[in-house]
Amino acid sequence: MAKPLDYIFPNPPAGLDPRALDLERIPESVAVIMDGNGRWAKKRALNRLKGHKAGIEAVRETIRCASDLGVKYLTIYSFSTENWKRPEDEVVGLMDLFAKTMLAEVDGLHEEGVRVRTIGDLSMLPQETRDAFGEAWEKTRDNDGMTLVVAVNYGGRQEILRACEACMRRAALVAEAGGEVEAPTEEMFEEGLYTFGMPDPDVVIRTSGEMRVSNFLLWQIAYSEFVVTDVLWPDFNRYTFLECLLDYQGRDRRFGGVA
Ligand code: IPE
Ligand code: IPE
Ligand code: MG
Repeated sequence: MAKPLDYIFPNPPAGLDPRALDLERIPESVAVIMDGNGRWAKKRALNRLKGHKAGIEAVRETIRCASDLGVKYLTIYSFSTENWKRPEDEVVGLMDLFAKTMLAEVDGLHEEGVRVRTIGDLSMLPQETRDAFGEAWEKTRDNDGMTLVVAVNYGGRQEILRACEACMRRAALVAEAGGEVEAPTEEMFEEGLYTFGMPDPDVVIRTSGEMRVSNFLLWQIAYSEFVVTDVLWPDFNRYTFLECLLDYQGRDRRFGGVA
């Protein structure tokens, strides 16, 4: 059940009216490409890692706000399969930040009834980081509030290849048993995705103005609405989130049909 709007948005900036939000049309599934930490740090002549650290508060606030509004799935893009190309100290720092943040936040998330999951290949992460995500998943698995999906070492193409492999394995088993191998259906294919059982994002929000997908949820975003804001991720908060949701609610979703 969503909380009252004046509780969720107590001090809106001038010109932004939280009551414009239609609580009947809150997206069930929101995905966020959290971008701009580096630029935020650069503007302040700080190390990039300081930007990532500053981004944690934005993550915290977005989770809380989405959960209060009744969003059912919030997926946050935290580390892509391409982000290993970054300088080693940044990668190491990010992995450490993920582990420490997850450990520090898990109890609060649990109290709020949030269920934590991950998508992506965790096998390549340092043990500490993998354990922190694994423990959060275990601890919160029976919660029935919002599902927080952390995309870490996630790549849409890699995920699609995994699903192809799963289809091929299934076909091989059928063939071995003497059965007739059939072409995969969308439903069969989706069983091989990390997101199996989760709804596709209604809206993908990207911060810091870049108009690209960067290998995020390639299969799942077939009919997602895109909202791009110029705000850098560490400056993102409940009010910028509200602006994105209002933008989304102004869209006419047709799914290939007619209006
Ligand atoms: C997003 O911020 C965080 C991660 C990809 C981990 P960036 O680090 O990409 O910030 P910019 O794009 O360099 O400003
Ligand atoms: C996308 O941001 C990945 C995450 C937010 C984790 P990037 O900063 O890595 O994307 P590009 O390089 O600008 O496309
Ligand atoms: Mg970036």
